[in-house]
Amino acid sequence: MGYIGSHTAVQLLLSGYQVHIYDNLCNSNIDTLQRIKRIAGKDLGFTYGDIRDTQKLTAALKENSIEAVIHLAGLKAVGESSKKPIEYYSNNTQGSISLIQAMQAVHISTLVFSSSATVYGDPVYLPYDEAHPTFPTNPYGHNKLQIEQMLHDLAFSDKNWRIACLRYFNPVGAHESGLIGENPNGIPNNLMPVIGQVANGKLAQLSIFGNDYSTSDGTGKRDYIHVMDLADGHLMALNWLQENLGCHTFNLGSGSSFSVLELLRCFEKVSAKKIPYQIVARRPGDLSEYYAKVDKAEKILGWKTRRSLEDICTSSWNWIKNSKNN
Ligand code: UD1
Repeated sequence: MGYIGSHTAVQLLLSGYQVHIYDNLCNSNIDTLQRIKRIAGKDLGFTYGDIRDTQKLTAALKENSIEAVIHLAGLKAVGESSKKPIEYYSNNTQGSISLIQAMQAVHISTLVFSSSATVYGDPVYLPYDEAHPTFPTNPYGHNKLQIEQMLHDLAFSDKNWRIACLRYFNPVGAHESGLIGENPNGIPNNLMPVIGQVANGKLAQLSIFGNDYSTSDGTGKRDYIHVMDLADGHLMALNWLQENLGCHTFNLGSGSSFSVLELLRCFEKVSAKKIPYQIVARRPGDLSEYYAKVDKAEKILGWKTRRSLEDICTSSWNWIKNSKNN
């Protein structure tokens, strides 16, 4: 029920699926459950548990007659993953093995897995397509790639599996209600949450990590994807798996990229707030630019992004204003 999961749960409920969430709340808040119910106008189930607790997970799958799983139970802070690699291997890689074992125990074989564009590493060419070489550069990225490889091996060994690995680009934005959004613990690392905290006065300014990249304005460019478009991508993948076997990989991105300054200007425009910033040194490990080739998801899943950068900034601002009042 974290950031991506909460928005995906809303879209699933609204399209008629019944939803049960299994979460250890290590990076989410139980209040989100009520908010999902409020937006969707429908009830959903919840079990408190750790993904590595295979017994508890098996029981939750069985007792709730689960038919398919969307696996979003990953730790996701790139910097932290280099400092605490074993926590990441334990929660992400070992946790995924535990989930597969639980699913096997109760004969569930439909799975949507939350992967990341981080599996590609330094671009050999752009846009990244799904066949681009994979050279992740940090433990978080290694975990994502390991899990994808494990899922391919699993689907090869047992032809009953239906698996979609979704490689997210940069998820941003919030539900238009302003009731759910990204709520990182502690000081945020990612651009949009930092901008949000500057806008609501929690941080004095944004530090822009370098303006000497070979991009139009010198700041880094990314493929930002509205979290509601991403949620729709999960729904489309799940629907598609009903008719298709095997393990399949899809990029979920917009197919275009925006610079830090472009995002900042857009946010300033929709919020009518000035976002003070300073240019500082490049952040180690950052790339100049990357974005997705999105033809595969469009052709096969019938999915593409529908929301603009302005929609992203408007929904983020709405969420930030709202969460300040909570
Ligand atoms: C990061 C992860 C990526 C993950 C994604 C989730 C890294 C190297 N990669 O992507 O694996 O899937 O988050 O959204 O961490 N920026 C600033 N100032 C800030 C924060 C960011 O200038 O305070 C810049 C960055 O240099 C970059 C852009 O904003 O050019 C986006 O950064 P961020 O939101 O952290 O995402 P990524 O690093 O692209």
